Amino acid sequence: MVSAAMTRDRESLQAAVDALPYWHHSIDLGHGVVTPGVKSPAYHREELELLHLPDLTGKTVLDVGAWDGYYAFEAERRGAARVVAMDSYIWQTDLSGWGPPERRRHVSGPLPGRCGFELARAALGSSVEAVECEVLDAGPETLGTFDVVLFLGVLYHMRHPLLALERMASVTRELLVVETHMVDIPHFEHVPLWEFYEGTKLADDPTNWWAPNVPGVLGMLRAAGFREATLVGETPRPPRDGLRFGHFRGFAHARP
Ligand SMILES: C[S@@+](CC[C@H](N)C(=O)[O-])C[C@H]1O[C@@H](n2cnc3c(N)ncnc32)[C@H](O)[C@@H]1O
Repeated sequence: MVSAAMTRDRESLQAAVDALPYWHHSIDLGHGVVTPGVKSPAYHREELELLHLPDLTGKTVLDVGAWDGYYAFEAERRGAARVVAMDSYIWQTDLSGWGPPERRRHVSGPLPGRCGFELARAALGSSVEAVECEVLDAGPETLGTFDVVLFLGVLYHMRHPLLALERMASVTRELLVVETHMVDIPHFEHVPLWEFYEGTKLADDPTNWWAPNVPGVLGMLRAAGFREATLVGETPRPPRDGLRFGHFRGFAHARP
């Protein structure tokens, strides 16, 4: 629960930031306070470049899997008319065991993982709306439609990626922006393929399921209902080493 006292001055805001066990995003809250996100400010800057966001002035934006809200707040800062931050899994998660030992503490409440988002929203005086919703429940009937939809770091968490992309197509009016874990499979660059991770095989995280290669993700975006899909950026791929799979992050744009 965020109170006005928490964001009143630098000391109170810093104390409120420090009281949370884990921050995923580094968000500049003003008063010289930046949240200690696992994603550093430099990481965010680089990611923003690779995302190649269009001019968001006057647009409606949906940020799917918003977590602490960095990209939703950034869309608002860039002049979006309406921004909705949507999440489910992590907002419901008790993150008390996640941070460095000195930060590990329990946060109570029905949506403990949403406290960072709520604190940032209050500190920024933001009008970003929050909706708790599962990707597979997203649709025009539950959320409405949006000019731009951000689907960043979510695709590989989907058990049913084609279904998830169909849900995204149903709420996207102009552009879906995707950022995802991807795979380079030597000698199969032109074949659409997805690498499957059972259990905790990817980063010891049971919520990670898939890594597409480039034709795999672009083909699935088209199959989900997008007319056009393009890879607009990628992080450096590891040097090829025989037949070994190489992993990187890819950034795609898809238009209905
Ligand atoms: C790796 S984080 C990415 C956070 C942020 N979009 C970014 O790029 O920094 C994945 C996010 O997707 C959310 N997520 C995973 N599965 C989801 C689902 N089925 N419905 C809604 N959100 C989901 C998680 O809760 C988490 O916030």
